[in-house]
Amino acid sequence: MAQRPFVVAIDGPAASGKGTLARRLGERFGLAHLDTGALYRATALLVLDENGDPANPVTAERAARRVDPQLLADPRLRADAVASAASVVAAIPEVRRALLGLQRDFAAHPPASARGAILDGRDIGTVVCPGADVKLFITASTETRAARRVKELRDQGAPAIYEYVLQDLNERDARDSGRRAAPLMAAHDAHIIDTTTLDADVVFERACALVARALEEKEWQQ
Ligand code: CDP
Repeated sequence: MAQRPFVVAIDGPAASGKGTLARRLGERFGLAHLDTGALYRATALLVLDENGDPANPVTAERAARRVDPQLLADPRLRADAVASAASVVAAIPEVRRALLGLQRDFAAHPPASARGAILDGRDIGTVVCPGADVKLFITASTETRAARRVKELRDQGAPAIYEYVLQDLNERDARDSGRRAAPLMAAHDAHIIDTTTLDADVVFERACALVARALEEKEWQQ
């Protein structure tokens, strides 16, 4: 039987830096990257585009079924209004179910040029890929995450007010952690990295060491 691909799962709260980390790890180890937050953002964008209510399960599920890979590159996905609506649609079990197959397919069949897959989100280690070879949970204090998001927005030339960004993160974290369907939490076997006082390169090197060790173990088992 063919060996299942090497899979890295990265979870964590909003603006914890997991997306950048996942991209860098993907490049370093030749793993195809899927930003699963983009799936929920795309669902939210489709709902907002038709003036729908993100909290309506029927509207949101229909939108989730229309998400296609092209939409994942739409720059409008990065807007704050879309992020907030994403965490509303993400609490709807039918939406999560509609997007699950796509994520599991990506993990099971990454592009042939890749050695495996790396997925980042909120429930990758717990629900989407519970058998992942490495699980990382990336976190930081809310204040640190808000300050990083403000810098990111300002670097892009967008106006950003710290207090509003902080409030928005708090609301989104509360929705993501408090929902019944696949709430944000670390898998019992995840490596937890608190990045409050660590810079991105240190986090990257730590994560690289964990991934390299797991890759060696997997190759050794073959
Ligand atoms: O980039 P940021 O951390 O701000 O957010 P994101 O990863 O793009 O995710 C946007 C929203 O999608 C989150 O607030 C979650 O509500 C939802 N999400 C989820 O429920 N499950 C995932 N696997 C990924 C995202």
